[in-house]
Amino acid sequence: MSINLGTRFLGKLIKSPIYNASGVHCVTFPQLDELAMSSAGALITKSCTVNYRDGNPKPRYYDMVNEEGKQLGSINSSGLPNLSYKAYQEYAHKKRDKPLFISVSGMNLGENLQILGEFNEDPYVELVELNLSCPNIVGKPQTGYCFEDMEKMLNEVTKIYKKPLGIKLPPYFDMVHFKTAAEIFNKFQTIRFLTCCNSLGNGLVIDSESESVVIKPKNGFGGIGGIYIKPTALANVHAFSKLCPDKHIIGCGGVQNGKDVFEHILCGASLVQVGSALYREGLSIFDRLTEELEEIMTIKGYETLSDFRGKLKYL
Ligand code: DHB
Repeated sequence: MSINLGTRFLGKLIKSPIYNASGVHCVTFPQLDELAMSSAGALITKSCTVNYRDGNPKPRYYDMVNEEGKQLGSINSSGLPNLSYKAYQEYAHKKRDKPLFISVSGMNLGENLQILGEFNEDPYVELVELNLSCPNIVGKPQTGYCFEDMEKMLNEVTKIYKKPLGIKLPPYFDMVHFKTAAEIFNKFQTIRFLTCCNSLGNGLVIDSESESVVIKPKNGFGGIGGIYIKPTALANVHAFSKLCPDKHIIGCGGVQNGKDVFEHILCGASLVQVGSALYREGLSIFDRLTEELEEIMTIKGYETLSDFRGKLKYL
């Protein structure tokens, strides 16, 4: 039996469905080069703004682990440190043998229009994930949680950006919100993929020994990732795969092993991103996840991802 992990995605063949979540190991060019050389199937940049940003004061990322050293989750409030959209646009011109996604998170509508207007004219920029869900900028709400603002944003950006577009969503928690959000996304034909989902916004992790928060920005509040978020991520992947059947879903949330990748795909994901676990384990995680996914497929007798993609059974 031979296993093929390839996926056809917007006219491209992506050899493995597994790659980094935006924010992890993807700010600098050397980090992006390392992703390009790893066994990840694609790579995505840090979310970019018009101007270079240093981000929030450190410490701004903290890993929660249990007594055995197993990762439970992470909290982050990085504050969009990035090299600016022009830098990642320049990076897109470099030769590479796997697809590059550029994550865009302008500080306001005007910034998104400026960035996407320029990207629209550049044939080297092929895959854009517009981030509607950054929880870590003081005073800025997550666009994805205000349906009126989100629709306005999508109306404006799709007037300017004519290529296939993806959007990174915050996690939703209510059936009516899934449906209302999906109805908005389905109005836009050029929205070709939805990435489900960003971190659980504004959690608080504390250390009882020191009686203190563990990250500095926003008095310790930050986005929660890792296994805490997996059931929520799977719910968002599955809900939107059913409600937006013409769009690809990219799964993101709580992926630590091959079984987690399998579950995201079973819920309907075309591709699967890894955040917190990549941060902890480093780039070799892509080899491990690939082997573990192949092992599960072998045991189950699946040869391709489409043998089980979206085929979640109900009781
Ligand atoms: C940051 C965090 C996010 O979850 C996101 O979507 C974008 C940026 C950050 O703090 O840098």
